[in-house]
Order: sequence, then C-alpha cells, then structure tokens
Amino acid sequence: MTNVTGRMDLQAFRARAVTSIAATETLEGLAEVEEEFLGRDSDLAAARRSLGGMDPDERRDAGRAINETVQDLEGALAEKRAVLERVQRAGEMEDEALDVTVDRRRLPLGTLHLIQQVTDEVVDIFVGLGYRVAEGPEAELAWYNFDALNTPPDHPGRLESDTMYLDYGDPADEVLLRAHTSPIQARYMELHEPPVYIVAPGRAYRNDTIDASHLPVFHQIEGLAVDESIRFSDLKGTLAEFARQFFGAATEVRLRPHFFPFTEPSAELDVSCFNCDGGEAGCRVCKGRGWLEMLGCGMVDPNVFLAVGYDPSEVTGFAFGMGVERLAMVRHGIDSIRHFIDNDVRFLRQFAG
Ligand code: DAH
Repeated sequence: MTNVTGRMDLQAFRARAVTSIAATETLEGLAEVEEEFLGRDSDLAAARRSLGGMDPDERRDAGRAINETVQDLEGALAEKRAVLERVQRAGEMEDEALDVTVDRRRLPLGTLHLIQQVTDEVVDIFVGLGYRVAEGPEAELAWYNFDALNTPPDHPGRLESDTMYLDYGDPADEVLLRAHTSPIQARYMELHEPPVYIVAPGRAYRNDTIDASHLPVFHQIEGLAVDESIRFSDLKGTLAEFARQFFGAATEVRLRPHFFPFTEPSAELDVSCFNCDGGEAGCRVCKGRGWLEMLGCGMVDPNVFLAVGYDPSEVTGFAFGMGVERLAMVRHGIDSIRHFIDNDVRFLRQFAG
C-alpha cells in the first residue's frame, strides 16, 4: 500500500474504503468496515504513525492528506449508518405491525334458540302486565313438586315410571327433577307476602320416551297471581290478553273444565286458530277443529295457600302453566318436537330472529 516514494497511496485506499462502505448491508458489517479502514490496525493508522519520521514540510502535507481522508470516510460511514438504521427500523415496524383491517364480522354468529326466543317473548308480555320473573331449582324436593301443591301421596305422577328421582324411597326427603315449573309457585309464596304476580320460566323433566310430541326435558312457563280479590274473570281476561299479544289481536279464548290438584276449579285454555277462519276443513294448524289447546290453569286451591302459610280467607289467586315447545310448534307449524334438540342448523336458521 505504498507508492513509489514509499508513501501510502491514499487515493487508492480511499477508493477501496468507499467501495466497501457502499457494499455493506448491515450495521454490524459497517462496524467491521470502520474498524478495517479507520481502526488501530488500519493502514491509515500505520501511515499516521510514520509521520514522525518525515521532515516538516513533507509531514504537513501528508498529515493534511490523512486527515482529509479520515474526514471523508467518517462522513461516508455516518451517511451509510443512517440509511441502514432506517432500513432496520422499517423492518421492525413491519414485523410488529398489527393488521386492524381484518374483517371479523364475517365470523358466523349464532342466534338464540327458538325455545329461548319464545320464552323471552312470553315473559315480556307478562312483564308488560306488571308481573315479575321468578326462578326455582331443577333438582327439587318432592315436597314442593307434589305435597305443597295439594298432590295426594297416591297420585300416579309420583311413580318412578313418571317422574325422574335423584333420591327415591323416603317420602320425607325425596329429591327429583321437577316435573313442572309449578313448585316455583310454592317456593315464591313461602318467601314473599301477597300480593304476588309472577311468571317463572324453566326446564321440566318427565320419564317420557321421545316421540313427535314428547321430550324427557322440556320447557314451561308458570304464572301466579295472588291478591285480595282475584276472580276467575281475572284469569280469563289475563290469558285472553296474553293470547292476543302472542297469537294476534283477533284471537279468542275459551276455557274447558279440567282437573289439576293445585287449582279449583281447573281449566284448559284453548285459543282460536290463528291460521284459518274458525275450523276450515283443511287447516294444517288446527286440523279443522278451529281451536288449539294451549295451557292448564285455574284458581289456586286453598290447600296450596295453607301449605305456604297464606290465609285462604284473606287472599285468592289464579295460576297457569304452559309448554314452551307447544307454543313454538303451534305458532310455527313445527311437526315434531324432536326438531328442537336435533341441532340441525337448517332448522335453527329459520328462526334467526
Ligand atoms: N303443572 C301443570 C302441568 O305441568 C300445568 C299447570 C296447570 C300449571 C294448571 C298451573 C295450573 O299453574 O294452574 O301439566
């Protein structure tokens, strides 16, 4: 690296350094290039050390040339470093980037099951009439499911063939899966003074084999109104209002005598067919009968009041219980209760709300 006069060829050295700097693509590589051309062991450092042996004129010229070279190279290194730092930062930004433009709305979104939709709708109607919502346990004492509801010890519903027991045998502490939502009536009255206006939705369990109209687990909505002078006409008027809101303003209701242990008198409520004009021969909804059986109801039996500590000489009341699956099937013309548990999305999607 020396010229003919024994002096270093700075032009060639500078050209090599500039080429190396230009060819470097990383910050680490640039540090190595800097060490090679400007470091302690570089040719330039050696040339600077040799200045001491020169005569003053020669030393001044050579010294200036070396300094200029150093400045040039430091400038070139700084420029290149700035470029490489920008490139590195851009890479980091890209690695850490979060794409907030991904369209997540396209993920398939479920809907409420038809049974839940109908439950909500019925509860809303009664809440609109001033009722509160009550709940009770699905694993229930036989006492609330039967005894408090005036059901005699020999009632067939008590048999294991009808009701699912968790603990069977000793009548005093039998536990079962409630066969209806009616025990919620007794539980609520035990804890609250009259007046009572409640609806109580929930699951009910029976030892039934699955067919087109039976499921061992199904849904009911219970209703109870207790006050100082509730009459049978209040029962009919309330249920007529419910039927009009649920099935349509033109809906009529009729009560047929029936029997339930916990009400006296008891009745079944029919609603006029919303699909045809009163019993058209080919109607697929009422099969030409003109009426649809809807629910059980009646005036609360005084024995139920006694069981929960109410005085039957001071209060009267009515109660009703309806099957949610039945309401949904009638309204939507669903031919089998099995559709509700098949979880076939082609069925469920039809009721996407
Ligand atoms: N618990 C009855 C059943 O499951 C339905 C019922 C009838 C409820 C009459 C009532 C009522 O509250 O008064 O079949």
